[in-house]
Amino acid sequence: MGLIDQFVVKTLPFVPRAVVARISKPYIAGDHLAAAVECVQALNLKGFRATIDILGEFVTNFDQAVESQKGYLEVLDAIHENGLDSNISVKPTSFGLLLDREKAEKLLDGIMQKVNSHQNFMRLDMEDSPCTTMTIQLYEKFRQEYPGRVGVVLQSYLRRTVGDIKQITEKGVPTNFRLCKGIYVEPEKIAFKEYQAVRDNYVRSLEAMLKAGAFVGIATHDDYLVDQAEKMIQKMGLSPDKYEFQMLLGVRERLRDQIKERGHNVRIYVPFGKDWYGYSIRRLKENPALAGTVFKAMFIKN
Ligand code: FDA
Repeated sequence: MGLIDQFVVKTLPFVPRAVVARISKPYIAGDHLAAAVECVQALNLKGFRATIDILGEFVTNFDQAVESQKGYLEVLDAIHENGLDSNISVKPTSFGLLLDREKAEKLLDGIMQKVNSHQNFMRLDMEDSPCTTMTIQLYEKFRQEYPGRVGVVLQSYLRRTVGDIKQITEKGVPTNFRLCKGIYVEPEKIAFKEYQAVRDNYVRSLEAMLKAGAFVGIATHDDYLVDQAEKMIQKMGLSPDKYEFQMLLGVRERLRDQIKERGHNVRIYVPFGKDWYGYSIRRLKENPALAGTVFKAMFIKN
């Protein structure tokens, strides 16, 4: 990222919300469920799978956590009723994981019951490091109770990840991972900081997951990692039911088309909801053309 872009990243909190809303449009399906359904229908027509995420995290009370549950139950019904090729992605802190773990687990269990009855699938997104162990434990619990209906995300920037893969896959129960680099700011003691080191650990982790027979959602927009993953898939002779590529809505669409054209399944992460601001800021910080994008949105009216 160039100097001007780094400057824009630092000043992002001061960019007016209306401007952030305008430039983050491609990354978000909309405010309401109907917009997410429409977005997924369009993606499905183009041959992409989807996973729907309701924006929001770190609730401060259980009324909000119950609202999160209600929202996801509606999403699952909408997926079912509209025959969408989509599952759901949830952030455990949206259900109060950091407030009261048992209550959060109960709310998530309510979602798992509907996932199970609709024969769908729930992905536990991975948040920052205070949540890592608890999220893996949630995964362990639910995969025993609802085999094949739940998966977890691991992050290659964490030094612990290869160890976690070993522990999780040793149990002999079918495993379903999403592997990503990781988006939160973590201390060097527990996380690789150097760009190539995170990539190297991604490749190591992916190899460990695939060799252990786990299904892997290969979540990245990094050409280098896509290339490494494709080489690994070919070398291991993996069939498409063993993995899929996963990408975020609005990011590197040409690359996602190319991956699909090469015969791989691709799932798109489709966020929607009113809490768009935090998610948008994270996406914008990752956007290498950030300065130009912000400049255009500030000064050019559509
Ligand atoms: P990298 O950030 O190096 O990006 C590679 C290239 O992609 C860049 O050079 C750029 O060209 C392009 N690019 C990336 N982001 C862009 C953007 N916003 N706009 C335009 N271009 C962009 N993280 C986490 O901690 N927990 C989680 O549960 C998840 N879940 C998740 C699901 C899915 C489906 C994906 C794809 C990602 C996540 N992530 C995540 C986020 C992930 O950890 C990571 O931050 C981003 O995917 C960016 O990392 P890349 O591997 O794409 O590499």
